[in-house]
Amino acid sequence: MRESLHDGRVAIVTGAGQGIGLAIARRLEADGARVMFADLEEAAARKAAGETGAAFWGDLADEETAARLVAKTVETLGAPAILVNNAGGGILRPFLDHTPETLRATIDRNLWTAIWCSWHALPHMKAAGWGRVINIGADSVRNGLFDHAGYNAAKGGMHGMTTGLAREFARDGITVNTVAPCAVVTPQYREIEKSNPDLIAKVVSVIPMGRAGTEEEVASMVAYLARDEAGFVTGQVVSVNGGTTML
Ligand SMILES: NC(=O)c1ccc[n+]([C@@H]2O[C@H](COP(=O)([O-])OP(=O)(O)OC[C@H]3O[C@@H](n4cnc5c(N)ncnc54)[C@H](O)[C@@H]3O)[C@@H](O)[C@H]2O)c1
Repeated sequence: MRESLHDGRVAIVTGAGQGIGLAIARRLEADGARVMFADLEEAAARKAAGETGAAFWGDLADEETAARLVAKTVETLGAPAILVNNAGGGILRPFLDHTPETLRATIDRNLWTAIWCSWHALPHMKAAGWGRVINIGADSVRNGLFDHAGYNAAKGGMHGMTTGLAREFARDGITVNTVAPCAVVTPQYREIEKSNPDLIAKVVSVIPMGRAGTEEEVASMVAYLARDEAGFVTGQVVSVNGGTTML
């Protein structure tokens, strides 16, 4: 553990039960943060938290649940200094193939989770005079990737919240940024690779480097933005995308 980087600072990672969120949580732990593993699924949150026992489960698109997450974190680990809004995931399909339920679920899980967790965590960061909010957005907002309109509505809202919050808290020692990945190799990606290789080929064809990213490559950018040394970087959407979109 590289304790000097965070020296026990408290981090909340949402959607930390698996995939990119789990990789981010592990990376922040390695940098010396004490992490609260939050997820919709109890078993996944508990398993990810392991011996630390710092697990929380519930639907974070619900305001009261997000409030309970922050309260439990304060009680058990201390006030959150780092919040990673990673909970989410796409329901990807042509816009007109969505149902009202799938559209609502897309916005709920990707945008409302980030709004409520930020709303409840920011007062603690402001009181401490130091904080990091890091959202996991999506590079597809920049290139209008096929079948992504509903998902981009949610992630685009997250990108927009980033700039507004960054300005609002710029003099409170708090930075707010978004990391925007292109396709990332997760267990789900591996499944699709087997069941629908044509889809994977189509997604990868737009990535100049000719491959999807790794969970660790996303976690690495999050880890950088969480550190003291990134203190002058705020209001940015940083793509981790193998060159898919540039500038
Ligand atoms: N995998 C990719 O290719 C990719 C690309 C761009 C962006 N992203 C974004 O990165 C993030 C992580 O992606 P992933 O592929 O690891 O996803 P995943 O589906 O493997 O994991 C997401 C986690 O979030 C949790 N979650 C979902 N809704 C929640 C809610 N309402 N409350 C609490 N927890 C909730 C899930 O239980 C799950 O454990 C997501 O926001 C996703 O949209 C992923």
